[in-house]
Amino acid sequence: TCKTCWSVDRPVQPTVAVLGSGDFSRSLTMRLLHRGFHVVVGSRQPKMAAQSFPHVVDVTHHEDAVAKAAIVFLAIRREHYPVLWDLKHLLEGKILVDVSNNRRVNQYPESNAEYLASLLPQSTVVKGFNVISAWAMQQTSPMDASTQVFICSNSAQARQQIVDLARQLHFQPVDMGTLSSSRDIENMPIQLFPGWKGPVLAAVALSIFFFSYSFVRDIIHPYIKRKQSDFYKIPMEMVNRTLPTVAITLLALVYLGGQLAAAHQLYYGTKYRHFPQWLEGWLQSRKQLGLLSFFMAAVHVLYSVCLPMRRSERYLLLNTAYQQVRRERGREGERERERENR
Ligand SMILES: NC(=O)c1ccc[n+]([C@@H]2O[C@H](COP(=O)([O-])OP(=O)(O)OC[C@H]3O[C@@H](n4cnc5c(N)ncnc54)[C@H](OP(=O)(O)O)[C@@H]3O)[C@@H](O)[C@H]2O)c1
Repeated sequence: TCKTCWSVDRPVQPTVAVLGSGDFSRSLTMRLLHRGFHVVVGSRQPKMAAQSFPHVVDVTHHEDAVAKAAIVFLAIRREHYPVLWDLKHLLEGKILVDVSNNRRVNQYPESNAEYLASLLPQSTVVKGFNVISAWAMQQTSPMDASTQVFICSNSAQARQQIVDLARQLHFQPVDMGTLSSSRDIENMPIQLFPGWKGPVLAAVALSIFFFSYSFVRDIIHPYIKRKQSDFYKIPMEMVNRTLPTVAITLLALVYLGGQLAAAHQLYYGTKYRHFPQWLEGWLQSRKQLGLLSFFMAAVHVLYSVCLPMRRSERYLLLNTAYQQVRRERGREGERERERENR
C-alpha cells in the first residue's frame, strides 16, 4: 500500500512531478492524488504555493521536484519554458509532459512540444492533456465532462507510459503517434466549430447568388420593363424561393463529392491513392453540408406553412372589408329608392 499518500487502499504509484502551481497544476495534482500517486510540485515560491495544495503534496523548488520524479508535467506556459534551461541536467532522460495551449491557431512556427524538445534534446517530450480544462480535470466521475486525451511522442515507450497513466486517471487516451501531431493536438481546444467554416461559407455564397438572381429576374426586370412594383415580395416570397434552391444545391454537393471520389478511383484504377487536398476537404465536409441543407429545407417548410396563413388572413380582412362596403352600398341604394318613391 501507499505510504506517502493519503489513500491506504491503493497500490503504490510512482512519484509524479508537476512544475508550476497555477490552476492546471492544482487540478492535475488533485486528480493524481485521487488515483493514489505521490505528487511533488515545483514552484518558484514553494512556501506561498504550498497554501494552495493539500498538506500531503510536497511543494518545493523546481530542482528538488524534478530530482524526485521520472515523469514531469510542465504546468507552465510556453513563454516560460526558457527557465527549464537551468534544469537541463536534472531533466536528462526524464519524460516531460507538455500540457500547454496557445491563444491562436498555429500561433508559433513550431508546436510548443516541438519547441520544448528542441530546448531539451536529452529529455523525452510527450504532448497530452491540453484538451482537458482545469475544471474538467477536477471532475473525477467518468460521466463528467470530456475524457478523451490525445497523446503523441517520438518515443513509443514514453508515449505508452503516458497512455497508461491517462487510463489510470480515468481518461480515454488516443495515441496520435509521433510529436509531429502535437501541432494538431495544440490547435484542437482553440478551434471553434471545426469543419464548419467551408460549408457555412458555401451556404452563404449560394444564398447570396440565388437571392440576387431572383431579385434581378423577379423584381428589377418587371420594374424596368413594366414599371411593376413587386418589392413587397422580397421578405417572404423571394426568401422562400431562395431557401429550397440552396438546400437542394447543398444536398447535390454532398453527393457530388462522393461521385468525384469514385471517378478519381476509377481513373487511377486503385482506391489506395490519396485524393487531392481539395477533394479530401470536400469529402470531410459532407456531414456539415448535409446538415446545412436540412436546416435550409426546414426553414423553407416553416416559411411555406406561414405564407398561406398570411394569405388567408389577408383574404379574410379583404373579404370582411368588401362585405362591409357591399352592405353600405346596399343600404345607400335602399335609401335612394325610398327617397325616389317619396
Ligand atoms: N487552465 C486550464 O484550464 C488549462 C487547460 C489546458 C492546458 N493548460 C495549460 O497548462 C499550463 C498552465 O496553465 P495555468 O492555467 O495553470 O496557468 P497559470 O494559472 O497562469 O499558472 C502558470 C504557473 O506558471 C508558473 N510561472 C508563472 N510565471 C513564470 C515564469 N516567469 N517562469 C516560470 N514559471 C512561471 C507559476 O507557478 P509558480 O509561481 O509556482 O512558479 C504559475 O502558477 C499552460 O501552458 C496552459 O496552456 C491550462
